Amino acid sequence: MKSKEVVRLSSSESGSAQQREHWGSRLGFVLAAAGSAIGLGNIWRFPYLVGKNGGAIFILVYLVITIFIGLPVMLGEFAIGRAAQRSPVGAFRALNVNPFWGVIGWMGTLAGGFLVLSYYNVIGGWTIKYMVASFTGLMDSTATAEQSGAFFGTFIGEQGQVVAFQVLFVFVGMLIVWGGIGKGIERSCKVMMPLLFIIMLVLIARAVTLPGAEAGINFYLNPDWSKLKDPALYLDALGQSFFSLSLGLGIMITYGSYIGKDEHLPSSSLWTASLDTLIALLAGFAIFPAVFAMNFEPGAGVGLTFITLPAVFSKMPGGAYVSFLFFLLLFFAAITSSMSLLEVATTFAMEKFSLKRSHAVWLTGIIVILLGGYSSLSLSGPPKITFMGKSKDFLDAVDYLCNNILLPVGSLLTCVFVGWFWLDPAKKELTNDGEVACPWMGVWTWCVRFFAPCAIFYIFWTGIKW
Ligand code: TRP
Repeated sequence: MKSKEVVRLSSSESGSAQQREHWGSRLGFVLAAAGSAIGLGNIWRFPYLVGKNGGAIFILVYLVITIFIGLPVMLGEFAIGRAAQRSPVGAFRALNVNPFWGVIGWMGTLAGGFLVLSYYNVIGGWTIKYMVASFTGLMDSTATAEQSGAFFGTFIGEQGQVVAFQVLFVFVGMLIVWGGIGKGIERSCKVMMPLLFIIMLVLIARAVTLPGAEAGINFYLNPDWSKLKDPALYLDALGQSFFSLSLGLGIMITYGSYIGKDEHLPSSSLWTASLDTLIALLAGFAIFPAVFAMNFEPGAGVGLTFITLPAVFSKMPGGAYVSFLFFLLLFFAAITSSMSLLEVATTFAMEKFSLKRSHAVWLTGIIVILLGGYSSLSLSGPPKITFMGKSKDFLDAVDYLCNNILLPVGSLLTCVFVGWFWLDPAKKELTNDGEVACPWMGVWTWCVRFFAPCAIFYIFWTGIKW
């Protein structure tokens, strides 16, 4: 644990570059970055994509993409953030590069801060509802997947409730972001991330000891090679990798801007990416054995977490407790990610309009609540988005727009920027001005310059469809 040049600021000061607050320790930073990365993406999205894309084959493709594309992009974002000491919008100006690159920052802040949050918090709200419901009726009304689906349907149809839980969720996030980097984000992640890990291990122990669990483990670990021909597999894996690592929207630029100058960026990013991948893989071990042991369908898609799992839990001995723990886990994961998105929007408002942190938090919180309200309402009613003859719910449409379009485009631009227009400064940043070694600099350079941009472009081009 190093970096004693901690600059603690009171929460009321505004965020200019000179007095920027820094993480208190390396551990604190890695846990905060992992807190941002580990989220609904790992526990809700990853398993359903595994189920949808043929089990282990998806995991393999995902791992390759994460190592050769996700990790290099993450390193690039950290380097930009630490060099510029600004949130994404100001960062490119601070680096004195062509103003065009500011597009990455704008897209990130607007798309990330607001669009992703608009549906992320809605789902975050569901986790609170399901925690409570675990002891108040969820277990009685979910004996089969149909009943469980009906429970879910009734819940999301009650707009007042959905909005109330979403607002509650956003308030918790606002409260933490209000506390600032050290006292709010870092401290809460230091508590929640270890708890999350422990709960995950308890859930896995429960799932794999159920009779019939092997079938789930087999599904999870046996690749269905025929799926390799499906272009959607690659785009799903690519979008998921960016989503899960919180890339492409400048989150890691913002988090990087709080890293002390003596921190070793390559090892921090390796830690963050490894923890994120570990939790996603573990989530599968908590979910699939239980789903198979109780004879449910693994390919249930988006509903896997909120429809299939409660039904699975309700059939287990001690199901209410397992269900509560699972949704608590999901809540911890979601809130630490949600606040990273809120932080980006908040620092943006602080820098742009010279607001105090507390005012900036209110401003962004309210905008996010309004946008989320729209997503919540769309679940039970008309706001659908129709494009090229197909219509999607607002929530699905935003998820698709963000993950399959904005994140890949944002990451592609980041690679091109770092690899072709800012390579030497980036290398300086990664080696702390030549003071520390970066053993995989050669591979990294090759990835950001050639492999990642080409692969992202190709996968994006072949896989994109509404
Ligand atoms: N990574 C988070 C998850 O897995 C979600 C998230 C947080 C995110 N910040 C992000 C996704 C920035 C994209 C961009 O749930």
